[in-house]
Amino acid sequence: MSSPVTTEASHNDPLMSKSHNYKHLTPEEVEHFLTKGWLRVPGAIKEENIDKWMQDLWTRIDYDEHDKSTWHSEYLHLPRHREVPAEEFAPEAWNKIVDIVGGEDRIDPVRERYYGDAFIINFGSEDKTTQTVEYRPQDKDGWHTDDDWYRLFLDSTGNAMTVIHCAHVKDCKQFTTVTAKRGDVLLLHGLLPHTTSANHLHYARVISNPHVSLHSPLNLNRPDGNYSLLEQVILRNLGRDAVPEFQPTRERKSWYPRNAGFKRAKAQDELKRMIAAAKSKGLDESTVDSIYLRQGTKEFEEFERRNGFDKDINAETGLVMVQHTVGEWVPAGVSST
Ligand SMILES: [Fe+2]
Repeated sequence: MSSPVTTEASHNDPLMSKSHNYKHLTPEEVEHFLTKGWLRVPGAIKEENIDKWMQDLWTRIDYDEHDKSTWHSEYLHLPRHREVPAEEFAPEAWNKIVDIVGGEDRIDPVRERYYGDAFIINFGSEDKTTQTVEYRPQDKDGWHTDDDWYRLFLDSTGNAMTVIHCAHVKDCKQFTTVTAKRGDVLLLHGLLPHTTSANHLHYARVISNPHVSLHSPLNLNRPDGNYSLLEQVILRNLGRDAVPEFQPTRERKSWYPRNAGFKRAKAQDELKRMIAAAKSKGLDESTVDSIYLRQGTKEFEEFERRNGFDKDINAETGLVMVQHTVGEWVPAGVSST
């Protein structure tokens, strides 16, 4: 357990000219987040949450856990059937998130305040088990930030942080491969590009990647210097004490999440298989836990709102209806289009 700490100002760093009170971050964790833009919280997910949601994973995707010849896709994104409040899912990670964003009162009270079972599964492949070619991280395809539902500006907080349970991460001058164990949580600054790594072990590597949304943009001009860690990361990377001249160049906008298109298209088929599995055990449909069985209720409406499904589809970009693949390695000297 971490104990409450106060990090005192570094005399050379104007951004740290004020002391900050962190209740759940150690000085080492503060420094790590400031310099790397991410933080690992080992074993932060409650075991019961993992067990409960993983037990019907194979039913949902219709693959045989013990027969890899049935693993038809290397990479799958699933929709969300169940949710719990973020602080209940991984309490210690939530406490550190609150410290990083500068207080719980900055967090949007609705958007993504629940975490769910929208798993992303990287199965690897038989070919990759014998692959020995090594490439540079910068030659990897698929680097991105998670911003498929809003117009991104320097101070945007639609995705203030990406929360990953088991993954591989990096930053632009410095590339870091992160391995994680079951139950670990990785907290990433929302502007930190990341990508998947190849799964050479050919097993079901499962993560979920919810986000932390704030109700207001970041403030990159605080005369009192009381910047949150999220703000400090940006300022440090810009080499600035403040960015008083920053103004969004266009209207701020948000839409229905573009990538929810192909994920939600799977929900009804998954639900049918979950119901069939229950019936095969002599159980009633009502024993199946899925929000999609409660459409038309207040609870479903709240679920829709929390996940941005009440918003309009972006007329310009529409919805992505094709599952994207795991990013490929592009050998140096070969350009990708
Ligand atoms: Fe991502």
